[in-house]
Amino acid sequence: MQHRPRETERSCRMLLGDVFPNFEVDSTFGRMKVHDFLGDSWGVLFSHPGDFTPVCTTELGRAAQLSPEFIRRDVKLMALSVDGVEEHQRWSQDIVAYNNTEAGSQLPFPIIADVRRELVQSLGMLDPDEKDPGGMPLSARCVFVIGPDKKLKLSILYPASTGRNFDEILRVIDSLQLTAHNRVATPVDWRHP
Ligand code: BEZ
Repeated sequence: MQHRPRETERSCRMLLGDVFPNFEVDSTFGRMKVHDFLGDSWGVLFSHPGDFTPVCTTELGRAAQLSPEFIRRDVKLMALSVDGVEEHQRWSQDIVAYNNTEAGSQLPFPIIADVRRELVQSLGMLDPDEKDPGGMPLSARCVFVIGPDKKLKLSILYPASTGRNFDEILRVIDSLQLTAHNRVATPVDWRHP
């Protein structure tokens, strides 16, 4: 029987040390190239199965709450979901309201639109077990940490059914930044003192 590749097998998986592709994307911050947006900062790209879904809304709320902690570490956040910019704009307002942030305030990071699933396909972010009502695969909850040299420093892939822990993402960034500049390794459950 002929082997039929799964969607994930057709993708170009990112390996640690690979240069993150300089995608040009539409986002709630306008059209942008990923490398230009990041500049000399660190970056975190985190993907979502879809807009207005309960788990994703809690995750984006938590990321917004922790935004000062990411800024303090010179890390720029980029969310990504497989809906369009207009839906992302409405969803951003919903997330801000859910989070009880001051009236008129904005989500402090962009949400990238990937309606045609080009990015999630090429980055191996699809969850084969989750489909939208039209049968299209949804993206899993991927976390990519990108260094100032634009190389991939860490990737974690959760299924759509499991929300992430953003305190853990900050913890691993602390370790990545420490070990980037010092010949040390951090032990189990290490936290920045
Ligand atoms: C959610 O964000 O609530 C969700 C999305 C897709 C599958 C399961 C949960």
